[in-house]
Amino acid sequence: MTEPLLQTAAVTLAYDERVVVHELDLVIPQGMVTAVVGANGCGKSTLLRALARLMRPRGGSVLLDGASIATLPSREIAKRLGILPQSPLAPDGLAVEDLVGRGRYPHQTLFRHWSAEDEAAVESALAATGTSELRARPLDELSGGQRQRAWIAMTLAQETEILLLDEPTTFLDLTHQIEVLDLLDDLVDAHGRTVVMVLHDLNQACRYADHIVAMRDGRIHAAGAPGDVVDAALVQDVFGLQARVIDDPVTGTPLCLPTGRRADATNRRRARSTGPDPRPSGAEADRQA
Ligand SMILES: Nc1ncnc2c1ncn2[C@@H]1O[C@H](COP(=O)(O)OP(=O)(O)OP(=O)(O)O)[C@@H](O)[C@H]1O
Ligand SMILES: [Mg+2]
Repeated sequence: MTEPLLQTAAVTLAYDERVVVHELDLVIPQGMVTAVVGANGCGKSTLLRALARLMRPRGGSVLLDGASIATLPSREIAKRLGILPQSPLAPDGLAVEDLVGRGRYPHQTLFRHWSAEDEAAVESALAATGTSELRARPLDELSGGQRQRAWIAMTLAQETEILLLDEPTTFLDLTHQIEVLDLLDDLVDAHGRTVVMVLHDLNQACRYADHIVAMRDGRIHAAGAPGDVVDAALVQDVFGLQARVIDDPVTGTPLCLPTGRRADATNRRRARSTGPDPRPSGAEADRQA
């Protein structure tokens, strides 16, 4: 049997004395999109950092093709695995194209400096993320969403078989969120890449992921195809949130509608107002249309 591309074996992750991920066994399906979901502080970023060897496990190991990544040379890892951290940092004044060019470092050697191949990879990453026009702008003068897209471009330019992305849609407007998710989907579909991403939008996770890993307190609460694992009970257990889960009318995947208290508040305010309201509410107007 061939070894899984990327997996963890009883991996335990800690900051000083505080263990935040406990003996976690996880197999990342190759050539698919895995979404890691869970509440703030449950250990998603910590896990992703360990998968990229940015953090040394306290116990257990992370295996790439069956070999512990602790034993692999850094360049080998950087050629195979790219990571977009949750809050990446760049030197002051760095221009977008220079940042994206940094994604090519692992491909360069003492004898092979900047090449046409590197140039093509940078151009293609800029184009794919809609950042070509921003190429000369310093990163620290961009909007949050523009900056996020530049970082995604850097990760893409690395042209790795595995992409680990921590909340890649943060700061992006809805159009750019969908563009980035579609782009990652294409990389998997057309180029057989393996994507692991942390997403806070459970509905986008259900739409775009083949495999969902729901974490709770540093452990895997459930893992599997979205349709098999995401239901109202999971939303309650993992997020402590009451919700209805219905079929997404566009994709048929689970669609989570948090109950919240908003509907009650609307009813209360309506009841409080004196006399009948001559104007229908937005929802009523929808129904009457
Ligand atoms: N550098 C650090 N030093 C000490 N503790 C940390 C550090 N980074 C994270 N932690 C702690 O580890 C736990 C897991 O953090 P992690 O960043 O992995 O959570 P997360 O699931 O990614 O959360 P979020 O959704 O807020 O990004 C948290 O309790 C956090 O406070
Ligand atoms: Mg995080």
